[in-house]
Amino acid sequence: MGKKRQKPPKVWVCRGCCCGRKKKHPGVDHRRLTETARRRAGAAGAKFTVTDCLGPCGQGNVVVVRAAGTIRWFRRVNDETTTALVVDQVTTAPGDELPAPLRDRLIAKREGRKPKP
Ligand code: FES
Repeated sequence: MGKKRQKPPKVWVCRGCCCGRKKKHPGVDHRRLTETARRRAGAAGAKFTVTDCLGPCGQGNVVVVRAAGTIRWFRRVNDETTTALVVDQVTTAPGDELPAPLRDRLIAKREGRKPKP
């Protein structure tokens, strides 16, 4: 019997009806954050996708990271530092403790759930 293959790392950046919208999140440079996420994901060897609404609009901007056999959802990813820390989860083991700035950004009830835009 073969061992189940782990899916490759991937980052989903939500840019649906609310995430990425200046009307909802004024003062946030959404284009720049998207490019930061894209660049860091690529540097870490992760797939990257910009997706339509993932569901928890009231918690935007939402970013999801699949890495090391788990999927973590993050809310209010609205600045460069948080974006970088979230995407860097690609290189973090699932059992590793989250950096302090990310602890209150984790959407725990969605952990492990694959994004379905
Ligand atoms: S637009 Fe991002 S969760 Fe709905």
